[in-house]
Amino acid sequence: MVVNSFPKGFLWGGAVAAHQLEGGWQEGGKGVSVADVMTAGEHGVPRQITKGVIPGKNYPNHDAIDFYGHYKEDIALFAEMGFKCFRTSIAWTRIFPNGDETKPNEDGLKFYDDLFAECHKYGIEPVVTLAHFEMPWHLVEKYNGFGSRETIDFFVRFATTCFERYKDSVKYWMTFNEIDNQASFNNDFAMATNSGLLLDENSDNEAEMYQAAHYELVASALAVKEGKKINPNFMIGAMINYTPAYPASSDPADILLAQRVNQRRFWFSDVQAWGEYPKGVEAYLNQKGFRPDITTEDKIVLKEGTVDYIGFSYYQSMTVSAKNGDTDHLSTPDKMIVENSYLETSDWGWSIDPIGLRYGLNNLTDRYHLPLFIVENGLGAVDQVEADGSIHDPYRVDYLRKHLEEVKKAVTLDGVDLMGYTPWGCIDLVSASTGQMSKRYGFIYVDKDDEGQGTLARSRKDSFYWYQKVIKTNGADLK
Ligand code: BG6
Repeated sequence: MVVNSFPKGFLWGGAVAAHQLEGGWQEGGKGVSVADVMTAGEHGVPRQITKGVIPGKNYPNHDAIDFYGHYKEDIALFAEMGFKCFRTSIAWTRIFPNGDETKPNEDGLKFYDDLFAECHKYGIEPVVTLAHFEMPWHLVEKYNGFGSRETIDFFVRFATTCFERYKDSVKYWMTFNEIDNQASFNNDFAMATNSGLLLDENSDNEAEMYQAAHYELVASALAVKEGKKINPNFMIGAMINYTPAYPASSDPADILLAQRVNQRRFWFSDVQAWGEYPKGVEAYLNQKGFRPDITTEDKIVLKEGTVDYIGFSYYQSMTVSAKNGDTDHLSTPDKMIVENSYLETSDWGWSIDPIGLRYGLNNLTDRYHLPLFIVENGLGAVDQVEADGSIHDPYRVDYLRKHLEEVKKAVTLDGVDLMGYTPWGCIDLVSASTGQMSKRYGFIYVDKDDEGQGTLARSRKDSFYWYQKVIKTNGADLK
C-alpha cells in the first residue's frame, strides 16, 4: 500500500532570516551587520556592499517589514496556517553588536526570548539558524571576517550564548546558512554574506575562500560540540544551498563535469557530516599550491562536531556543459552553465525543476545517511493586489504543489528520512540577492514596495489557504 501522507510529527512551517524581515536595525542596542551595508539592487543589478552605512543610500534591510514590531501579529498568522515550526535566524548583532565583545546585549537576548515564547504559545517549534548572512560589520572591517582565526572564537561565543539562553525553548539549530555559496569565490555577495570576506583584486580570492571556509567549518564543529554539552537533545544541522548540476548531454565529458561541479559544492557539508575533508578537495589544494592553516587540533574538532541532519535550500537546478568548462579545475562554473530546454524559468531567471528536488533528496540521503530538512523552497514572483484587496497567486501554489508532490514520492516511495518542510519567505520580505520587496515568496502579503513605501499591512494571499489545507491534511491533499 502506498502511504499518501507525510510522517507523523512532520515539521510543516515557513522560513525567514532576521535581516530580511526584522528591520529595527538600531533598536535595542543592535549593531551594524553585513546586511545593513547592502544597498538595494534589482534583477541584473547587483547590490553594492558599501564601506559602512553611507547617508542617502537605500539600505532595504534597515527597516525591512518591521517584524521586530509586528512579530506577534505575524506569528498569529503562521499559527492560523497551522505551522508546526518556524525557521528564523538570530541577528548576531542584536546579541553581540560588534561581534568581539565578551558580554552579550541583554535587550537583544530578550527579544528572542519573547519571540520564541510567542511561537510556543501556538505550539510552533522554532528552528534557528545562528548565522544567516548577518555577520557583524565590525568583524569584517577589523578581522577580515572568517579570514581570521580569531573570528572562530567570536562565533563560538555567540553560539554558546544562544544555546545557553534558549536551551529550553529551541531544539532545532543550524550553524551557517548556505555555507557552500562561497564556492563562487569571485562573487562578492556570496563571499561577504558567507564568511565576511571582501573581494580584493590584488589577492587570490580562491585561496582566501578556502582559508575562511576552513575557519568557518571549525567554528561550526565547535558550536555543535558545545551545543551538545549544553543540551544533548539539541538537533544541530548543516545548511547548504543545494543546486544540483546536471550534465548537458550524455557525453561522458559532460557527466564527469557535472560530477565535479557537484563535488565542488558538496565539500562543505561533506566536512560537516563526515568530519573530514573529501579527497578531491585535499588533492585540489595541493594542485593549486594552497596551504591553508589547518591544524591537527582542527581535524580533531571537525570529527567531534559533526552535524545531526542536513538542512538545505532548494530553488533550482543547473545544467553544465564541458564545451566551456575545465573539468579538472574546481573553479566557478558560471561559464559552463547552459540552458536546460526541459525547464521553465521564473521572472528572475531561476529554473523551475520539481523533479530535481526528489533527485536531490535521494542524492543527499545516499551521500550522508542523515535525516534531511528542506528549510527553503519557493518561487519569487510579482503579486498583484486586486481592487478588493485579494491576491490571487496560482503560480506560487503551482510551484509549491509540484515540488511537494515530488517530496511526497521521495518520502513515501524512496524511503527518504525527511524532518520537515519550511518554504522560504512565508511572509513577504526583502530579497537577499536583489534587496527588492517586489520579489515576493510569501503566503502573507506585506504592503511595501521597492522604494520603501507602504503601510506594512499584512494580508492573506490565496496560497495562504492552500498551504493551510496542506498542513491540516499532513500533505495528503495537495490540490
Ligand atoms: C537563499 C537564502 O539563498 O535564497 C535566502 O538563504 C534568500 O536568504 C533566498 O532570500 C531567496 O533568494 P532571493 O535572492 O530571491 O531572496
